Amino acid sequence: MNNLSQKKILLIICGGIAAYKSLELIRLFKKQNVEIKTVLTKSAKEFVTPLSVASLSHGKVYDDLFDTENETEMDHISLSRWADLILIAPATANTISKLSSGSSDDLASTVVLASDKNVFLAPAMNVRMWEHPSTHKNISTLKSYGYKIIGPDIGDMACGEFGEGKMSEPKDIFSNVKIYFDQLNKNRKLKALVTAGPTNEYIDPVRYITNKSSGKQGYALAKALAIRGFQTTLISGPTNIQVDNNIDLVKVETADEMFKATQKNLPVDVAIFSAAVADYKIIEKMNKKIKKKDSLNLELEKNIDILNYVSNHNYLRPKLVIGFAAETNNISENAKKKLAEKNCDWVIANDVSNKSIGFDSNYNEVSIFYKNKKFKDEKIEIKKKSEISEEIVDRVVEHLN
Ligand code: PMT
Repeated sequence: MNNLSQKKILLIICGGIAAYKSLELIRLFKKQNVEIKTVLTKSAKEFVTPLSVASLSHGKVYDDLFDTENETEMDHISLSRWADLILIAPATANTISKLSSGSSDDLASTVVLASDKNVFLAPAMNVRMWEHPSTHKNISTLKSYGYKIIGPDIGDMACGEFGEGKMSEPKDIFSNVKIYFDQLNKNRKLKALVTAGPTNEYIDPVRYITNKSSGKQGYALAKALAIRGFQTTLISGPTNIQVDNNIDLVKVETADEMFKATQKNLPVDVAIFSAAVADYKIIEKMNKKIKKKDSLNLELEKNIDILNYVSNHNYLRPKLVIGFAAETNNISENAKKKLAEKNCDWVIANDVSNKSIGFDSNYNEVSIFYKNKKFKDEKIEIKKKSEISEEIVDRVVEHLN
């Protein structure tokens, strides 16, 4: 059985001249025993008939958000839950714009908005439309949501112009989807562990020492790993972020709890330590609330270094250990020091002197330092944490394979 067999793909066909190529795409998938359901936008029906789509896909064609018959059989939520992957081909400028703004005024956009699955788009439009800044902005928004863009190709267009905007050939779209499922299958055998967020170190039952970490970077990394098929455990200090149910979330509060949870979840193939673990804890935590006094001396002791413990473990060390370094100055020097001292394979440094990125921001800018000098240290310029995470996970997948 191949990796595509019995996979469920929801194919959304939008209204463009390239819609006829989707019929070939359906044929390629059906040959590999893929289950296909299709959604046609209103304008897609101007280019391909529901009958031809239904005959090739051996299934019902969904086209109306308010169709009582279809909605009772399979509503827009069930359709998006049913699929292993949503593929939009051709994806028109209009649909791309709707998806990037979160609009949901027809079945296609509603299904995608309601989906927790991977979404692939194969854009197709006139070269000027493709090159328009608004399309570029929309595509980059969709990329930041983790959507994968296939193509478009360069060539002669149906309108007589030449340039970039032609939908990729069905065989290329097919092979992108196949590579995705092949990779997913490989990754499913791999385990990942991510630490995220701050830790709270209690002084008394109601007061604690903590830091500004929101957990956003670590949660985004866990999400990117889980989407690629890794069996992902996220060990998180206190945050307000929801996780998808393909991630095993272990909530902790203190560094000691984070350490115990980490120990319990070893062995893994890759461990990423993005938590801002408090360096110190109170030596003698008070059992009762401390009464106000003129001054208060707190005696602190060092917390166990979780990353150090894992990276130096003699038989449970993951194949790939990645540490983070939040630095305000001498970034490269400090990160390289941590790389060596903590025995990491990579250290990912972020400059937290810039208040608009790093701690508690949706954005980050990171530099990756590698122990193995076969790889060149590199920088990922300022981007959403979700996009940075995708890029980091790209490298993790490449490394582990
Ligand atoms: O949570 P966000 O708001 O999204 O912000 C993300 C972040 C800025 C917190 C994150 O990207 C980051 O940089 N995390 C590391 C923060 C840090 O200051 O690390 P550190 O220099 O104290 O520690 C270096 C490494 O050792 C880190 O991987 C850390 O998780 C790990 N460590 C540190 C101390 C300890 N006791 N145990 C550890 O595992």
